[in-house]
Amino acid sequence: MTRRVRKAVLPVAGLGTRVLPGAKTTPKNMLNVVDRPILSYVVEEARTAGIEHIVFIVGRGQGAIEDYFDASPEIEQALAAKGKADILNEMRRDLPEPGQMSFIRQMAPLGLGHAIWCARDVIGDEPFAIMLPDMLMMAEPPALAQAVAAYERVGGNIVVVEPAPEGEAHKYGIVALDGRDGPLNRMVGMVEKPAPGTEPSNLFISGRYILQPEIFAILETQERGAGGEIQLTDGMAHLMKTQSFHALEYAGTTYDCGDKLGLLRANVAYALARPELADGARAAIRALL
Ligand code: UTP
Repeated sequence: MTRRVRKAVLPVAGLGTRVLPGAKTTPKNMLNVVDRPILSYVVEEARTAGIEHIVFIVGRGQGAIEDYFDASPEIEQALAAKGKADILNEMRRDLPEPGQMSFIRQMAPLGLGHAIWCARDVIGDEPFAIMLPDMLMMAEPPALAQAVAAYERVGGNIVVVEPAPEGEAHKYGIVALDGRDGPLNRMVGMVEKPAPGTEPSNLFISGRYILQPEIFAILETQERGAGGEIQLTDGMAHLMKTQSFHALEYAGTTYDCGDKLGLLRANVAYALARPELADGARAAIRALL
């Protein structure tokens, strides 16, 4: 019997250097895709997967995130007075129930492993999800729901993966598999940014995980790895010595919104996926081309 995944950690405290200067005063994950911040899509994905509590790992100057997930009485009253119920409903859709979100300051961006470790007290002793919010994953069922379904089948730890573009595997965290049969395979290793030509597979870790709480004790004492950062990949490789890990090749399309062109592609793809915007978006794109 696997324990249910109720909580998700969303680390957003990185500097977002690839989308500066935009990410200077607006947290990277608050940049818009069509008409909603990136985080709005990821929080919806979490809820669809049955997540009840979201833990944000934030940095300085990111108060806009907390404000976004809070009530906004002035705007709501103005919309109600003008009878704009549809916009009001759109805004309320993102709001949690009181107590369903926590915000933790990382204090210094020492790496993804360190960011996750900051959530240890709020997560406690239960399995949890990690969602890297700059990765927007367009999928049905949503990517985290696919991961939870895989977890309910095999338990242990689940890492969502996808094929890296040809010749680019050395830029990512890459998994090593114990054979490949269908989308869910047992992992035997992983490596962060392998030297070109040494990649154990073409599958990269793409931004959704389900981990067991024993990861926290490992991250607590972990040395800095690639790039001088405390790497989650190193911690998971350590945990793999005592626990099972499966890689799930999810069905869907990922947009890396932490990258200029990825953010542009996400805007185009999500506009085209909206019935009320698709025709206008298509016409606008055609005109530009
Ligand atoms: P990235 O490396 O993609 O994000 O980390 P970044 O550091 O913001 O981006 P660049 O490379 O400078 O452009 C993946 C996720 O982990 C978070 C980031 O906010 C991002 O959502 N992160 C990373 C932290 O919360 N803390 C860290 O110390 C590092």
